[in-house]
Amino acid sequence: MHVELYERIWMWAASALIVVFLGAIVVTAALQATMPPSHIETVDPLALDSHPEFSQPGVTETADGGVTAVVVAATFFFTPDPIEVPAGRPVTFRITSSDVIHGFQVVGTNANAMVIPGYVTQFTLTFDEPGEYPIACNEYCGVAHHMMVGTLVVRGGRP
Ligand code: CUA
Repeated sequence: MHVELYERIWMWAASALIVVFLGAIVVTAALQATMPPSHIETVDPLALDSHPEFSQPGVTETADGGVTAVVVAATFFFTPDPIEVPAGRPVTFRITSSDVIHGFQVVGTNANAMVIPGYVTQFTLTFDEPGEYPIACNEYCGVAHHMMVGTLVVRGGRP
């Protein structure tokens, strides 16, 4: 069967593209498969009131200088509000939901996570700029979803 030269070139070009795209999928899967969440921590969303950690949401400091912010999202607010953390120090957020899926996005920073009932969302971030940052819920969670806004207060200076 005779195939025109140009047609043959385009067939090879299209085949090469398919190989490149498949390769991209394989490379991405291999590299991203180890990205967070690399561990899964569950919590009973109906028993948060008696949970040792999530029954008392708040910001605590550990002896080694670490800061932990335990947060509960519920329709249609975040607890605590505001969340007050120091500037320039790593803050580990531990967040869960007592009802439906919420979002936790600290506007103007790259803190942006999904909060899923039954699971603990954890990430660590350092806020260098003191100030007040709105926290937006960016997962539709009900009629007042658009009203679900919290505040992160980043305190500057050291005592
Ligand atoms: Cu919570 Cu939308």
